[in-house]
Amino acid sequence: MNFRNTLSINSFVLALVALLLGSCVSHPAPESTSPKAAYAMPDKYAATTVEAVLNSGGNAVDAAVAASFVLAVTFPEAGNIGGGGFMLARMNGQNHFLDYREKAPLTASRDMYLDADGNVVEKSSLIGIRAAGVPGTVAGLWAAHQKFGSKSWASLLAPAISYAENGFEVHPKKAKVIPSTIEWFDGKVNFAEHFGSMADGGTFKQADLAAVLRRIAKQGPNDFYQGETSSLIIAQSARDKGLISANDLASYQVVWRKPLIANWRGYTVVTAPPPSSGGFAVIQLLKMKQLLGSEFEGLEPNSAQYIHLIAEMEKRVFADRAEYFGDPDFFDVPIKELVSDAYIQRRAKEVKVDSISTLEHAKPGLDSPSTTHFSIVDQWGNAVSNTYTLNWSYGSGVVVEGAGFILNNEMDDFSTKPGVANAYGVVGGVANEIQPSKRMLSSMSPTILLDGDDIRMVVGTPGGSTIFTSVFQSIINVIDNGMSATESVSASRFHHQLLPADLITTSVSIPLNSKATLELENRGYRVEPHGFEFGDLQLIESRPGATNTASDPRGIGVSGVIE
Ligand code: DON
Repeated sequence: MNFRNTLSINSFVLALVALLLGSCVSHPAPESTSPKAAYAMPDKYAATTVEAVLNSGGNAVDAAVAASFVLAVTFPEAGNIGGGGFMLARMNGQNHFLDYREKAPLTASRDMYLDADGNVVEKSSLIGIRAAGVPGTVAGLWAAHQKFGSKSWASLLAPAISYAENGFEVHPKKAKVIPSTIEWFDGKVNFAEHFGSMADGGTFKQADLAAVLRRIAKQGPNDFYQGETSSLIIAQSARDKGLISANDLASYQVVWRKPLIANWRGYTVVTAPPPSSGGFAVIQLLKMKQLLGSEFEGLEPNSAQYIHLIAEMEKRVFADRAEYFGDPDFFDVPIKELVSDAYIQRRAKEVKVDSISTLEHAKPGLDSPSTTHFSIVDQWGNAVSNTYTLNWSYGSGVVVEGAGFILNNEMDDFSTKPGVANAYGVVGGVANEIQPSKRMLSSMSPTILLDGDDIRMVVGTPGGSTIFTSVFQSIINVIDNGMSATESVSASRFHHQLLPADLITTSVSIPLNSKATLELENRGYRVEPHGFEFGDLQLIESRPGATNTASDPRGIGVSGVIE
């Protein structure tokens, strides 16, 4: 149930006071050359919250936990407690990767989205409760806080509870897409009932969600996985003939994994391991570009030949992604080999400098997905790069009755049938087929670039299969092309993903210049706006004596440096 009212500033101030008073345990030890504390957040509510946490002596993980819960309220299309994600954290000079990705329910099966003739039932992995994986966000934020948090858990939930209870102002960009979202769900789920009034703008309150957050503040993840909230999820699942059971929730576990690490141009790239394909892709792209350095020499960024060379590189990355990537707990991903210098050298040599490599088949991109990323650095030089998601905007469209949050449609990230593309137009095979309790393959690529022990960049973005091609471009824009943080995220971007072999897609609102477009077309490419706008990059860039931040102009984010 949603109530419309004016925003109560008082309650928000009270929540922030609670946050400031949150018990301070020990702080991480200061590092040598620490950057200024900085953040790049997808909305102003998360930005205000992070500032308050960092200013009150909280560390980057404290800020990330508070911001994630706030975004679950103020950014309901992607911020979530009903989805999952990845947190890359650099704390006290060590790198940590937390996998809180959703898992397939225990009764999920390989062919669950196929009809009797073996064809994929349209939208069955995208809409409705059977599209939802077992959510990981609450367990993930708890695990991060247990390991690194210095402020009390309850104090970090206070801002989110306040925004849920007292409301937040619906940004016009959000209000605008609600009618088309309702149309997409086509009356099959209860989304419109709960979120339809966001279309009118104004203040949006979420009383049920506030109650859930209050319980999580008191009981931690027990409420969500084994308590009152879990009962509400199970009841919803039973009503909608879903698969998520008490067993699924009670057995959900996060995994601390070793991040992928690579040396590139004297920097250390720290990024996402499987079950994401994003980190391997960022590493392969950066290294292939470096190996092809002489071909790039003198090329203008985003000129036709520059784009062609990168499209050739991206083809090879997507070919590997389709073949080798799935949940490493179920499938042996040959990750060492795929990021080895010898392999990347071989792949770089395959790049055709003058013509388009021909690989068959064609799949379209689709519209309106949404994920969200934020980047945070604290005063001690710790950093968090966090991407989390419901998959598409507003996920499966199923709102847990009595709890007010939306369940993801992450199951679509599995390969529902070998060779059949998912909503992002990417295919997969055995490695990423559905199995009980398995994690679906992701492209999310929270990344940190280190210069020695110091933070050089913290970056990530939404965008489905365009995530890692955007993260890659944002890094080379800064490091290779000498752009500022703002120039890097504001530049036009392009994307190629193997299928269709001759298609290059471009940013919808910041297109390529017409000269490059024409030249690419003359070389046999089709150049088209991508099916949805490229991701909302959140970037922190830091050098001795200078810390810069930028939120992508494509979104409604806010970034800043804390003096
Ligand atoms: O994990 C993945 O790769 C996707 N589920 C992410 C979805 C996404 O980025 C949608 N945002 N635009």
